[in-house]
Amino acid sequence: MPCSVGVIGLGRMAQAILLPLLERGDIQPAEVIGVVGHRESVQRAKNQLPSEVQVFAANDPRSSQVWAASLHLLAIKPQQLLSLEQNLTKNNCLGIANKNTLIVSLLAGVNLKRLQEVFPHHACVRAVPNAPVLVGAGLTGIAWANNVTNDQRLQVQKLFSPISEVLELEESQLDAFLALTSSGPAYIALITEALADGAVAAGLPRSLAHYLAHRTVYGTSLLLKGKDMHPGQLKDMVASPGGTTITGLRHLEKAGLRSALIEAVIAASERSRELG
Ligand SMILES: NC(=O)c1ccc[n+]([C@@H]2O[C@H](COP(=O)([O-])OP(=O)(O)OC[C@H]3O[C@@H](n4cnc5c(N)ncnc54)[C@H](OP(=O)(O)O)[C@@H]3O)[C@@H](O)[C@H]2O)c1
Repeated sequence: MPCSVGVIGLGRMAQAILLPLLERGDIQPAEVIGVVGHRESVQRAKNQLPSEVQVFAANDPRSSQVWAASLHLLAIKPQQLLSLEQNLTKNNCLGIANKNTLIVSLLAGVNLKRLQEVFPHHACVRAVPNAPVLVGAGLTGIAWANNVTNDQRLQVQKLFSPISEVLELEESQLDAFLALTSSGPAYIALITEALADGAVAAGLPRSLAHYLAHRTVYGTSLLLKGKDMHPGQLKDMVASPGGTTITGLRHLEKAGLRSALIEAVIAASERSRELG
């Protein structure tokens, strides 16, 4: 029986999407077939996944079975697309592919026009998920090509909505979306780590400092969302005149934290465009 989800590039992001779906029973392990770049990566990927998931290296002839699936998750690095394209042409993989299948590309920056060049007979979708999909709290931005059918749209919604909020966007918005939502967790993690370092420098034990930094970020996020607050409103609420918070904020402004974050998001957006 052909598998229904074919994953080309079974690395970190593909696993982050698949694992919660497999755990929840939204897809069955036997329905998934994945391909990785190197033979050494096969066992590593298998170790992370239920035993019924089939994983092959790209140069294993059995990997061509992936093209019989009804939905393809394309999750290689953008820089690996050219070599994938050359392999597909050399082995005539797309000749045996199911033409009704959908290509769901996670590749940062690679636009629909380029995807359509590589997969001329398939409908293509760009999806930009972020790491919190691992705990069902992700965000996924989607841009559809014009030839995607309503059924295929539902298929994609079904894939991402159990693990993330799904937002339909113009393709032109995806680089900025990625720069904020996909790279953002790294920025927040760095800020959390730095807050803990500060608490260690101020005398707290490391494990307690990490716990407190975590809970502070988590609680702040819940408060902003729960009370539908503007971040500036929360900042003003906490910073009392002549107090500790406004003293800390003065240091952050002097160090250019706000500007550094703005520049980081712009730079990540530009890098996403470059990768395409
Ligand atoms: N990480 C994020 O938060 C995030 C968010 C949004 C989008 N994305 C996008 O998701 C994609 C994957 O990122 P990642 O972090 O998961 O990368 P990754 O962990 O490096 O995974 C890439 C996978 O592709 C495999 N691969 C390489 N060449 C291949 C080929 N010719 N055929 C089949 N498989 C091949 C690799 O196998 P080997 O290891 O054996 O080479 C690896 O399993 C990227 O395009 C990125 O832009 C990531």
